[in-house]
Amino acid sequence: MKEPIIIQLPKIIDKRGNLSFIEELNHIPFKIERSYWIYDVPGGENRGGHAYKKNQEFIVALSGSFDVILDDGKERKVFTLNRSYYGLYVPEMMWRQMENFSTNSLALVLASVPYNIEDYIYDYKQFKKDKNE
Ligand code: TYD
Repeated sequence: MKEPIIIQLPKIIDKRGNLSFIEELNHIPFKIERSYWIYDVPGGENRGGHAYKKNQEFIVALSGSFDVILDDGKERKVFTLNRSYYGLYVPEMMWRQMENFSTNSLALVLASVPYNIEDYIYDYKQFKKDKNE
């Protein structure tokens, strides 16, 4: 089974300012079909609260911090993202929630499939059932 994992990205330290980068199928284990970002999150708001059947993601806190809560149907883990030089790989079929966004936080999400509502599982009971099959 694929596991969620924090992946350290290259960090080119430079007195003019640091630089990091991501290459598909090199630093992350999938081809990038889509990128989106979450920003201007009002205090106390949560994002997510669903699973994807096929979509894999890589999430980076480009600015600020937030928590990604992952649940594989058995165990719940909290990953705090607060640096732009690492990110969280999220395999398909994980229940995922994002919360505790700091002011001005910016979440970059790289995704392995184009947006498709059919890929979402919004019912937690259904997710657990599908996961155990
Ligand atoms: P959703 O994935 O439900 O956001 P979150 O999981 O962060 O709460 O998406 C919110 C809305 O944005 C939904 O109406 C679909 C739309 N959307 C797209 O059109 N394309 C995308 O790539 C994404 C991620 C969302």
